[in-house]
Amino acid sequence: MKLLFIGDVTGKPGLSYLEEILPELVARECPDLVVANGENVGPNGRGITPALAETLYDAGVEILTLGNHVWDQREVTTLLNCDDRVVRPANFHPSVPGKGYTICKVGKQDVAIVNLIGRTFMGLYDCPFTAADRILKEISEVTPFCFVDFHAEATSEKLAMGWYLAGRVSAVIGTHTHVQSSDERILPGGTAYLTDVGMTGPYDGILGVKKELIIGRFLDSRPVRFELADGPCQFSAVVIDLDDHGKAKSITRIHEVQPSS
Ligand SMILES: [Fe+2]
Repeated sequence: MKLLFIGDVTGKPGLSYLEEILPELVARECPDLVVANGENVGPNGRGITPALAETLYDAGVEILTLGNHVWDQREVTTLLNCDDRVVRPANFHPSVPGKGYTICKVGKQDVAIVNLIGRTFMGLYDCPFTAADRILKEISEVTPFCFVDFHAEATSEKLAMGWYLAGRVSAVIGTHTHVQSSDERILPGGTAYLTDVGMTGPYDGILGVKKELIIGRFLDSRPVRFELADGPCQFSAVVIDLDDHGKAKSITRIHEVQPSS
């Protein structure tokens, strides 16, 4: 089974480039399931709405994962309450809307998609490692096919999660830093791992934001309102091939940059 996971789709530019590139990529790679992190698809890279989720589904995405920007758009509550194709981090407080994993059918096979969020340089969340143990108990009764999007900042925390879940899940792929790492590997026990898949959005900014704003903030330490950068976009993704037992056979990074017009 081939799984295509697309990194943090950022704003309208990221969405437009995904719409442009995904049909050709799907025709070439023939993935059985397409998952994307959609926590930055909203205006100025913040959050997601039901309408934007529909646009991503129309473009070919089947399951959406989220992250720290989940609450930035008020309408997200409807999405989290009503749409089984959307998961938010499983280690949020149990009282908040939504769920931390979903199980979808790919042909006759059940596949679990899990979302976790890190705590190092991130925020106050429940322990992602304990949350993983808790939900893997439930998932392992249903399917050995389990994909984890670990939305986190620190490479150490992401590697720790990779090794903690090695042999217990099909893949642990990092999101959030918006910079694709090149450390893809198959961990012992058949777990595909990549510290960060990177972003799908503006290429000439800083993590998608206009570079002048971020440089200015570093220079004078004043807060600024983020605006997405103009210019060409990048598309970042990973293709993971799983055997019949849900073990990873291969992991391949994809990073394409839109030609400048
Ligand atoms: Fe994030």
